[in-house]
Amino acid sequence: MRAIEQKMPVNPIFNPGGDDAIQNRSIWFGNTTNLMQLNDVRYSWAVLLYQQMRENFWIPQKLDLTQDVTDYWNLTPYERRAYDGILSYLTFLDSVQTCNIPHLKSSVTAPEVSLCMAEQISQEAMHNQSYQYIIETVIPSDRRSAVYEFWRSDRILADRCKFIAKFYQNYVDNPNPENYFIALLADYLLEGLYFYNGFIYFYNLASRMLMPGSADIFKMINRDELSHVRLYQKLIVEAMKVFPHSEELIYEMTDSAVKQECRWTNHIVGNNILGITEASTSHYTKYLANIRLRAIGLNPLYLDNKYKKSPYSHLERFSDTKKGAHTKANFFEAQVTSYVMSSGVTGWDEI
Ligand SMILES: [Fe+2]
Ligand SMILES: [Fe+2]
Repeated sequence: MRAIEQKMPVNPIFNPGGDDAIQNRSIWFGNTTNLMQLNDVRYSWAVLLYQQMRENFWIPQKLDLTQDVTDYWNLTPYERRAYDGILSYLTFLDSVQTCNIPHLKSSVTAPEVSLCMAEQISQEAMHNQSYQYIIETVIPSDRRSAVYEFWRSDRILADRCKFIAKFYQNYVDNPNPENYFIALLADYLLEGLYFYNGFIYFYNLASRMLMPGSADIFKMINRDELSHVRLYQKLIVEAMKVFPHSEELIYEMTDSAVKQECRWTNHIVGNNILGITEASTSHYTKYLANIRLRAIGLNPLYLDNKYKKSPYSHLERFSDTKKGAHTKANFFEAQVTSYVMSSGVTGWDEI
C-alpha cells in the first residue's frame, strides 16, 4: 500500500501541468489535467459501464400511472402506509446520493471513472424526479406533504437518515483518506443493500396486480441502481489496494447496514403485507449482503445455507434485471416502451 496524503487532494478545474498518459493514470492520487481524454483509457470497464448506464436511459413521465391512482385506494391501510413511507425513504436515499457523489468524485483522477460518477449523479437526480412524479400523480394532495416530511415525523426514519448521512458528513468535515474509504464503502452499501427491500415491496404489489405503473418505474430505477452497484464494486476493489482500511471494518459496516435496513423495513413493512415477513426481510437482506461481500472478494458474513438463495426469487421476473432480461416491457401489457434503445454494447460480460 502506498503512502498517501493526510488530506484527500481535490482536482483543480484545469491542470495544464497534468499527465494523462494511461500508464500514469490512477483512480485516486493521479495527476490529471482534468481533460476528459477518453480515446485511450486505463480503466476500460468504466467506458463500458458508462455506455451501459446511458443505455438505461428512461423518462419517468412516459410510464403510465393511471391504474395506480385507483389502485391506491384498494390498498390496505398498512399497504398505503408502506407505499408512502418507502417513497419517502427512497427520496432521502437519492437526495443524499445527489449531494454526496460530487464530493467523492472531486478526488477522482481517472476521467473515465469521473464520467461514470457524473452519469450516476444525473441518474440519482432523475430518480428524485420520478418519486416526485409518483407522489404528485398517485398520492392524494392532502397526503403529499406528509410523504415528503415523513423523515421529520417518523423517528425510525429520521434515525435511519442520520445514520446514512453521518458517514458522508464525516468525510466532508474531515476529508482524510480513511474517511474517504469509509464514505466509498457507505456508498456501496447504500447502492447494494438499501434500495432492495423497497423494490421488493413494489414488485410484491405488482405480482398481486396492484400499482403496476409504480412497479414499472421501480424496475427502471432498480436497473440504474445495479449499474451503480457495479461501479462501486470496481471502486472498492481498487480502493482496497490504495486506502488504509481493515477487512473487519468492512464486515462491521456491512453487518450494521443489514441491521439498520431490517430495522427500518420491519418498521414500515413488518409482517403486515401479504408475502413479506420480518423473517423474509432478514433473509433477503443477509442474502444480498453476502453477494455484495463476495463481489469485492470477501467472504460471506451469514453462513447458513439458506442465505445462498433469495426468498423472493418468485418476484425476479418483475425486476427485469436478470442477465438477458432486456425487454423492458410493461408487466401486464407486454408493450415495449418506445424510448428503449437496443442493447448493442459489447464486452459487458467483463464487468
Ligand atoms: Fe438512485
Ligand atoms: Fe444509485
